[in-house]
Amino acid sequence: MYLPRLTLLCGLILLVHFCSHSQAEDRRLKTRSRGRCDGVCKSYTCGTVNRSGRVVGGTPTSAGKYPWLVSLFYRGKLYCGATLINNRYLITAAHCVKRVNLNNVKIVLGSYNKTDVHEPSRQVRKVGTWWAHQLFDRRSYNNDIGIIMLNEEVEITKHVRPVCLPVSGDGNYTGLTGIVPGWGRLSENGYPSEVVHEVKVPIISNEECKKKKYRPSEITDNMMCAGYDEGKIDACQGDSGGPLLLDTGKNIEIIGVVSWGQGCARAKYPGVYTRLEKYMDFVNSKIYDQGCFCPPPN
Ligand SMILES: *[C@@H]1O[C@H](CO)[C@@H](O)[C@H](O)[C@H]1NC(C)=O
Ligand SMILES: *[C@@H]1O[C@H](CO)[C@@H](O)[C@H](O)[C@H]1NC(C)=O
Ligand SMILES: *[C@@H]1O[C@H](CO)[C@@H](O)[C@H](O)[C@H]1NC(C)=O
Repeated sequence: MYLPRLTLLCGLILLVHFCSHSQAEDRRLKTRSRGRCDGVCKSYTCGTVNRSGRVVGGTPTSAGKYPWLVSLFYRGKLYCGATLINNRYLITAAHCVKRVNLNNVKIVLGSYNKTDVHEPSRQVRKVGTWWAHQLFDRRSYNNDIGIIMLNEEVEITKHVRPVCLPVSGDGNYTGLTGIVPGWGRLSENGYPSEVVHEVKVPIISNEECKKKKYRPSEITDNMMCAGYDEGKIDACQGDSGGPLLLDTGKNIEIIGVVSWGQGCARAKYPGVYTRLEKYMDFVNSKIYDQGCFCPPPN
């Protein structure tokens, strides 16, 4: 807010001394903002979980197992998930932010039981700014990715920590197992879950996905499919906008965003995710130098 006004002043009245002085000020500001992240992450790295509390497949997780998992409430109702990537920014689905009155959205971080408002680990924020991908298409769900800047930074704690962005591998996740944590319905007509559940789903190639019951043109290169042939386990409504995670053995990366699917866990209809690696430029263009990233573990 301060800098553009100075630039305007310089342009208008050409105060040479004043302007060169303000440039020096700018450089100092930048240096200071780099130092601003010192100590923010404490000893926490991105994408590390509490392995001692591990539970497998379609079952409740332990509190704090996915500390980057964020819930978005609309007038008190959980309607989408999101993922913390640094102390100020979330990745979610475009359909979770576009045409939503974000003044009515409450963002809850560090939560495990969504109805327990007294959880001491919770941090609650509002939307500062948001961006849906400019090419998001509501009919095809192509480019279903959005970014939320929180109104205020979060404190990085044991229960509120960022995930790592995708770096490892060549973007070929075929045959690997994805993890989808969330509060979504446990079955197509079931109730949403009170506590965080996770499902583990095999990632299939787009080629293979097009051979399932979707029309081949529905599955674009910006999407990724995961699920069992016989259905049974899937991400479901309410998980939208949440992460598809990959455990690299060293840390956990977000590789996709829960986007769409036909029903839930129906045979031959795998879940469809936004392929995050396709959108790293979009993500980086929104984050500038704001927010502090925690480094991955060594
Ligand atoms: C990690 O797991 C252990 C054992 O289940 C538990 O005592 C501890 O509270 C957990 N920590 C977090 C951050 O969830
Ligand atoms: C979640 O929290 C609510 C409110 O405190 C409580 O009634 C409920 O039993 C909790 N659910 C679980 C599964 O712990
Ligand atoms: C991706 O990985 C799978 C499993 O390792 C392999 O079968 C497949 O050929 C790979 N695809 C490409 C395009 O490299």
